Amino acid sequence: MNNNCWYSLNIDFSNALRKDWEWKVPDLKKSNIQSESSRMFNTEWLSYMNSIGIPISHSLLFYRISNGNPLRAHVDTYPKHYSSTDQIDINEKNYNLIPYALNWVFEGEDSEMKWYNLPDEIPDTKLSMTNAQYIDYAVSDLEEIDKTNIQSYFTLVRTDVPHTVITNEKSRWAISIRSSVLYNWNNIVNHFRSKNILIER
Ligand SMILES: [Fe+2]
Repeated sequence: MNNNCWYSLNIDFSNALRKDWEWKVPDLKKSNIQSESSRMFNTEWLSYMNSIGIPISHSLLFYRISNGNPLRAHVDTYPKHYSSTDQIDINEKNYNLIPYALNWVFEGEDSEMKWYNLPDEIPDTKLSMTNAQYIDYAVSDLEEIDKTNIQSYFTLVRTDVPHTVITNEKSRWAISIRSSVLYNWNNIVNHFRSKNILIER
């Protein structure tokens, strides 16, 4: 099995953010995640994403303080009533897995995103502090399969196997962009490859 869980994408993100969009440090006592609508992005950039077959539905802003070494990893899910292509049906649970996200990372140059094998046993989902649904695992029970220090490039990341982010001396911002087109992992990789946007590893 190919364990590649990330690919750099040749997508220009330099002018994607609207000029009037402001970085706001989330209230860390409540949550380190803020949902932001697509008003974060310029219409031109959203049109470009539409033109390559990946319409953007929403995005999440993650802020990780320095020296964060979480003992838990998670898999992203969404409730089953949400309609999409390529649905992944997990043992009649009431959720599907979200196969991928498009991440842009600011600062946190010494941070790392890590991925782990997906255990056979799938526990129930947990709600995060922002009501996002996650399947949560102890990192100590998992086997690491891939890692990267995401910088400079807009990056396709796999989110249907356990993953986590480790920070060192620098805190880290990430914009995680989600599309309504939920191809499974192999299909999204092949989609970007067919558009000559994927940078092979
Ligand atoms: Fe995630």
